[in-house]
Amino acid sequence: MAAAVAAGFLPPALALVIIMTTGAHSPAWTMLAIGVGAIGGGVAAWGISNSIIDRAERIEALAAALRAHRSPAHVIPDDSDAMGRAERDLLQATDAVIAEIGALTEQRDELGAILRNMTEAVVVTGARGEVILLNNQARKTFALSPDASYQGRDFVELCRDPRLQEFVTDSTAGANGEIIAAEVRIQNPSPRYLAVSAAPVKRASATRMGWLFVFHDITQLKTYETMRADFVANLTHEIRTPLSALYGYAETLERGVDDPDTAKRFLGIIEKQAKRLARLVDDLVSLSNLERGLNPLKLEEVAPRSILEDAAELMRERAERSGIRLETSDSTDLPPIHADRDKMHQLFVNLIDNAIKYTPRGGKVTLIARAASHLGNNGAAGIEMVVADTGEGIPAADIPRLTERFYRVDRARSRELGGTGLGLAIVKHIVQLHHGALNIESRVNEGTTVTVSLPVSA
Ligand SMILES: Nc1ncnc2c1ncn2[C@@H]1O[C@H](COP(=O)(O)OP(=O)(O)OP(=O)(O)O)[C@@H](O)[C@H]1O
Ligand SMILES: [Mg+2]
Repeated sequence: MAAAVAAGFLPPALALVIIMTTGAHSPAWTMLAIGVGAIGGGVAAWGISNSIIDRAERIEALAAALRAHRSPAHVIPDDSDAMGRAERDLLQATDAVIAEIGALTEQRDELGAILRNMTEAVVVTGARGEVILLNNQARKTFALSPDASYQGRDFVELCRDPRLQEFVTDSTAGANGEIIAAEVRIQNPSPRYLAVSAAPVKRASATRMGWLFVFHDITQLKTYETMRADFVANLTHEIRTPLSALYGYAETLERGVDDPDTAKRFLGIIEKQAKRLARLVDDLVSLSNLERGLNPLKLEEVAPRSILEDAAELMRERAERSGIRLETSDSTDLPPIHADRDKMHQLFVNLIDNAIKYTPRGGKVTLIARAASHLGNNGAAGIEMVVADTGEGIPAADIPRLTERFYRVDRARSRELGGTGLGLAIVKHIVQLHHGALNIESRVNEGTTVTVSLPVSA
């Protein structure tokens, strides 16, 4: 630039020097000086304009790079003059802005991915309750369309459940900057429990607070809580009954019972109730060990028939006492199965015990081992082991609940028979550990058939 200006001044200066040294004032010299000055000035102006065009192009390229959010081409500007230095500053500032845009974009994408993949429903609203943002889970929770835009819609209208609407309205009304949390049981669009929180958010572009709502589905947690509470209530009940009998009879005996036969009968009851408690504890320990996977399976090759025969052997005397025929049906040659012999024994003792308990005198219990009528999920061969009785049967409505802990069709009767209601829960766990399936079919007053299907190799 400086050179260009110097070049502009050089010709007239040269003409003046010639005039001064020659002392000539002739029009020819004047014309020559003006001509040379004009040419020199033109060359200088051409140089200046070229330099301005170059710079303008570089600045335009910077602007284009900024617009496209990409780094500008790094042409090192000549920073020997003020324009060059300004250009270099602009280039550095552009670099910094582009780097910042890159970092912000990355951050935004990360936040977007987090928001999309969150298991919680997240909704951000403006001060008037208008939707600014909602994630996929929010669309699912409130049964909204997966791709419709709800921007600007009133959030209270979108959450159709009245209790949720109440929460949203109440929490946004008291704008004292606190985070409000609650557990809400909703019915709409489906019954569930939600842990909800509303936090005020200050948005840079808005004068009033917006709101961040987070909805966490705790239905499963609540179900577990209820199950645990039910379990404790059931257990307390199961323990209290024999305990109060123990207290009662022990106290009576302590006060003295004259008739030795009565005293003996009371002692018999005490023994029976104590055994009941002991069985309850045994069953609970067994169930808890199975549920917690404390005793891993000791798998070995076992012949299905031998499992049934061993269990039948143990239960034969009981069956005879109850006037029930216990038969093992002839089965064809079956492949051995990989199973834990002790657990299988426990499983079939439980099933045969039920069959005997719930079959009236004169009835029959049949044990069958046979090849599975259809192949398992993965096409593997399997076997079926069946305990069928001609007993009182089970109403269809009760069948799906039989494997729940403490579930009994007739509580009083089962208790009278010494049952704890844990037998089938234990059975279900053992079957599951062996990757098998349990099927119960029953008709009231006709009988019950329990089928345990097991893969040949677990
Ligand atoms: N073969 C069956 N015939 C009729 N009812 C049955 C039969 N097996 C089970 N049930 C019903 O299912 C309920 C649950 O059975 P489960 O074996 O879990 O408990 P339980 O036999 O009462 O007690 P436990 O087995 O702990 O001694 C029983 O109380 C009974 O009502
Ligand atoms: Mg039982």
